[in-house]
Amino acid sequence: MRAVVVERPGGPEALTMVEVPRPLGGPEEVVIDVEAVGVNPVDLGNRADPSWAGISPPYVVGYELAGRVVDSDEPVWALLPVQGTTQGALAERVAVPRQYVAPRPPELDPIVAAALPMAGCTALQVLQRMPLAAGSWVLVHGVAGGVGHLLVQMARGLGLRVVAATRFDDRRRVEELGVDLWLDRSDATPAATAVEKLGAELDAVVDLVGGQLEPSLPYVRVGGHAATIVDLTGDLDLAIDRNIDLHGVLMRAGRDRLYELAAEVSAGVRPHVADTYPLERTADAHRRLEAGRVGGKLVITL
Ligand SMILES: NC(=O)c1ccc[n+]([C@@H]2O[C@H](COP(=O)([O-])OP(=O)(O)OC[C@H]3O[C@@H](n4cnc5c(N)ncnc54)[C@H](OP(=O)(O)O)[C@@H]3O)[C@@H](O)[C@H]2O)c1
Repeated sequence: MRAVVVERPGGPEALTMVEVPRPLGGPEEVVIDVEAVGVNPVDLGNRADPSWAGISPPYVVGYELAGRVVDSDEPVWALLPVQGTTQGALAERVAVPRQYVAPRPPELDPIVAAALPMAGCTALQVLQRMPLAAGSWVLVHGVAGGVGHLLVQMARGLGLRVVAATRFDDRRRVEELGVDLWLDRSDATPAATAVEKLGAELDAVVDLVGGQLEPSLPYVRVGGHAATIVDLTGDLDLAIDRNIDLHGVLMRAGRDRLYELAAEVSAGVRPHVADTYPLERTADAHRRLEAGRVGGKLVITL
């Protein structure tokens, strides 16, 4: 069967399609025929330098999938840990530890389902970490991307109010998803502009871009909240002076989290699949994500 592996770290050309034996699966594994696999920035990062993930090549790429259990034909989805995984999702058949697999929502086709686990579980975990009351104002940096466009839908479900800066091209889309106050991303200080327009300080800031906490903290209220899924860089001392709790969030894979995600799907949360690629064009999908302006998720089909 076919699988996409990284044999040596590098650019998209490092992705190689190889023939490997079909996995048989152990007692604690579910053997799945893969139908679709989501592409994420971490795929690119680990491809270029897998040392952060604690693995060395060769390894099979990919962390989220939709497929069917070989024995029962049950439709499932799976989310694998982004660290330590060497048998990734991009193969025709995979054996996945049972704790990372769950039945997928029946209303989702495999392509849509494969776009959800990583970004959706990350968004959920960010929101779960911050104790925010309905009506709170949250500034989200990176709302137009894979994680952001799901987070804003979940935030709306919680009754939170979202302010976000995007490119003008993304304005209508993110407003339809739940952005209450839209700002132009060319604004050098979106947090300051948000406070000026709202006439009140922010309750929280979420950084899905990187480097956005330092310039935002002065505009978060005393006792407010801040979370990042990218980095904790810059001078963050203001979090002490203003008693702002800082959350660094690394998505934790697990079946329970997939059930929580399924509940969000039942509540109406959907990913935007910007494009699909066949397995043999995985490198093109990586190039496209690297170039930016995807505005949703890319999915590999098998
Ligand atoms: N900690 C974790 O567990 C975890 C989990 C998932 C992802 N991540 C990381 O989180 C980041 C986001 O992931 P993702 O899947 O959402 O990536 P993505 O789909 O590439 O989305 C990033 C979004 O941010 C936008 N953006 C970039 N600079 C911006 C700025 N200055 N202001 C406003 N928006 C800006 C991009 O717009 P354009 O493309 O139009 O420029 C894009 O829409 C990545 O670095 C990823 O590695 C971490």
